[in-house]
Amino acid sequence: MSDKQILLEQIRADILNNNICPDLAKTAMNLVMGSGDINADIVFIGEAPGKKEDEQGLPFVGAAGKFLDKMLMQAGLARSDVYITNIVKYRPPNNRDPSPEEKKTFWPYLVRQLNIIQPKIVVTLGRHSMEYFLPDQKISAIHGQPTNVAFDGTDIVVVPLYHPAAALYNGSLRATLIDDFMKLSTIIEILEKEKEQ
Ligand code: URA
Repeated sequence: MSDKQILLEQIRADILNNNICPDLAKTAMNLVMGSGDINADIVFIGEAPGKKEDEQGLPFVGAAGKFLDKMLMQAGLARSDVYITNIVKYRPPNNRDPSPEEKKTFWPYLVRQLNIIQPKIVVTLGRHSMEYFLPDQKISAIHGQPTNVAFDGTDIVVVPLYHPAAALYNGSLRATLIDDFMKLSTIIEILEKEKEQ
């Protein structure tokens, strides 16, 4: 195991040992930590696992995940090129929204994940993860716009996107999200060019 893998495994162990969100832990089948490339430059952050994610222990494997895969592909990315996780790592019962308390409790563990992975770009999917990186903002006003954020001493670019589940059955949101995804590939290209210089 690489050092990064060991450190990420430690986060999982700490969540279990510290009995984080015990009510969610009781009803959930799995703790869903994340999946993908732990050396990726880009990390996607959703809200919380749904039914399929809880069953499989993996993020975004249900209908919203299939849509996410499609948009990644259109943007020239594969799932294995990026890392995907959620702010809350247990499924809330009946797919209710995660509570403010649950988000706050899981936040330090997400910060630790990001400090280990060290991405250049964080893409928030939906308002639940956006509000932690870009507080007091409205997703309708800032979706698709990259913002430089000083995060725990490192500069990252945060790109807030609509949640794929919200866009799945709403034609105009869907078009907006696909559009924003295409902008994402331009943002990545610019960052890669900067890296080469
Ligand atoms: N929605 C999310 O926010 N995360 C998942 O992992 C699946 C659906």
